[in-house]
Amino acid sequence: MAYKNVLITGCSSGIGLALAVRLAKDELKRFKVIATMRDMAKKGPLEEKAGETLEKTLQILPLDVTCEDSVRQCVATIPDQRVDVLVSNAGVGLIGPLECHSMAAMQRVLDVNFLGLVRLVREVFPSMKRRRQGHIVVMSSILGQQGLLFNDVYCASKFAVEGFCESLALQALKFGVNISLLEPGPVVTEFEKKLYDEVASMDFSKVDPETRDIFQGFYMAYSKDVFSALGQTPEEVAEHAVQVIGAARPPFRCQTNSVYTPLTTLKHADPSGRLPLSAFHQLVFQHDRLFRASLSLLKMLQWRKRRDLGPLPRPPAPP
Ligand SMILES: NC(=O)c1ccc[n+]([C@@H]2O[C@H](COP(=O)([O-])OP(=O)(O)OC[C@H]3O[C@@H](n4cnc5c(N)ncnc54)[C@H](OP(=O)(O)O)[C@@H]3O)[C@@H](O)[C@H]2O)c1
Repeated sequence: MAYKNVLITGCSSGIGLALAVRLAKDELKRFKVIATMRDMAKKGPLEEKAGETLEKTLQILPLDVTCEDSVRQCVATIPDQRVDVLVSNAGVGLIGPLECHSMAAMQRVLDVNFLGLVRLVREVFPSMKRRRQGHIVVMSSILGQQGLLFNDVYCASKFAVEGFCESLALQALKFGVNISLLEPGPVVTEFEKKLYDEVASMDFSKVDPETRDIFQGFYMAYSKDVFSALGQTPEEVAEHAVQVIGAARPPFRCQTNSVYTPLTTLKHADPSGRLPLSAFHQLVFQHDRLFRASLSLLKMLQWRKRRDLGPLPRPPAPP
């Protein structure tokens, strides 16, 4: 069969939407995209961007990763239930002091980001093993490698994703199935806005004043700067995903933003964990002026790069 069935979760916005459209418009017509979302009322933006590929190389189906039946029903509608490439992309964030999060909010993050992936894999992996082919591509994060202030539960969910995949990849390889983790840094999508909206209605009553000041006065200001200085577009991340999906020997890990590579290198250079911890501590709490100046510089370089490159090249017209 000439084309691959690619099932993607979380296509109502952001990276999932950009990747679904990019694959559906593939000039070599290598893919049939099953673009899924939990709320079909949000399909408008995807339909608009998919244009003429709709119902040709792109089909939109409902799928909520927190519901086993929903995952099963979606896969059941695919001819022969043949998923050649699974892209587990759906995810939610959570920022703020631990004291502000309800247990339900923390469970939701783990349910969507980690158990959502497990539900998908349990549904498609047995048939991939039988066919001795398949590719599971997982949207992790650089925060699946490195912890970050006030992102404790989100990082835990992505660390869980990384551990799960690292373990499963061994068995998968034996059956000719590939697993790849994509690890973006900040990406400018709805994700960021949803986080800030949640912070706006957060209950700080159980938080001590010092922690509250660090979060509101320091973290929030820097978070916005980091997104605008270092944030990639969803289309840029989608391009990395396309490379990984199209590779003859797909990598197990792919960082999409080279600015973050030194962070993970630092971590692996010191098994005691002291080096990255003290580097971060100094950068955030002792040399914050230097941090701020570096971000301003990076922001300017990013602006100049975008200005010089102009808009991203448009993909070719759909078939
Ligand atoms: N943006 C970043 O800075 C960044 C950085 C690194 C990694 N990532 C990861 O990239 C992935 C995509 O995020 P994004 O930036 O594209 O954010 P986004 O625009 O908010 O997209 C997230 C998608 O996940 C969907 N989703 C949430 N809960 C779901 C569920 N229970 N079942 C199915 N879909 C569900 C959302 O649907 P609704 O619209 O219905 O909520 C949305 O379509 C996530 O896994 C995220 O952790 C993001």
